[in-house]
Amino acid sequence: MKINQRRTIIAGNWKSFKDKDRALDLVEKLVENSDSFFPEVVIAPPPMLLELIINHVGSTIKVASQNCHGSGQANMLKKLGISYCIIGHSDYRQDGETNDMIRDKVDLLLNNDITPILCCGENRYDREKGHEHDVITDQLDNLDNYLSHMVIAYEPVWAIGGNTTASLRQIQDMHAHIRKILSYNNVPILYGGSCNPINATEIFSDPNVDGGLIGRASLIPDQFNKLIDIAKLAKF
Ligand code: PGA
Repeated sequence: MKINQRRTIIAGNWKSFKDKDRALDLVEKLVENSDSFFPEVVIAPPPMLLELIINHVGSTIKVASQNCHGSGQANMLKKLGISYCIIGHSDYRQDGETNDMIRDKVDLLLNNDITPILCCGENRYDREKGHEHDVITDQLDNLDNYLSHMVIAYEPVWAIGGNTTASLRQIQDMHAHIRKILSYNNVPILYGGSCNPINATEIFSDPNVDGGLIGRASLIPDQFNKLIDIAKLAKF
């Protein structure tokens, strides 16, 4: 069993994928491979598929919303039975979502018993300037009272959606930095950004990496199931 008591989570961010039949096929293949015990498997379909998916996942897979836009929606997500909500993803930060707006969303979600998966990550320019630690510190600032109830996902913006993953050294360094900022040792920190079955064994070997937030590979059943199996081996 894991030495630390943190949850291990493999979360799939489906973004704008909305093919209903393929989505149901994907869920079926994930359900076959997952036991509700370890690791936690989470999928985040787009809003129009949320209800369909939540009716098909059974008890072994949890469902996340990809964002939350106000108290009405947070309440609706709670009623639907949504467990997690991704916030602060770089797609939305790039569209003008600020740290203050994200903090308000954290508050709303926790008041509705939904766990925020808070994404943080520096862009390429910040990394080239050597500012990556300051950016992350800033993104996690002002959340002290909430952090123990959240999940953090470190997603360097320059590693999302392309062919470059952060190196193990960069991941270890940033996850240790985030762990230092959190005064609670129980907060899972996931890595995201071109994580796939080829690089995951190395990435999940870091004790401060508690799983992954997976984009493209979460839409390929064999790849996502493989990532779940790799996490099981690395963390159990
Ligand atoms: P990727 O996406 O795994 O396709 O790089 C990750 C994300 O956007 O969360």
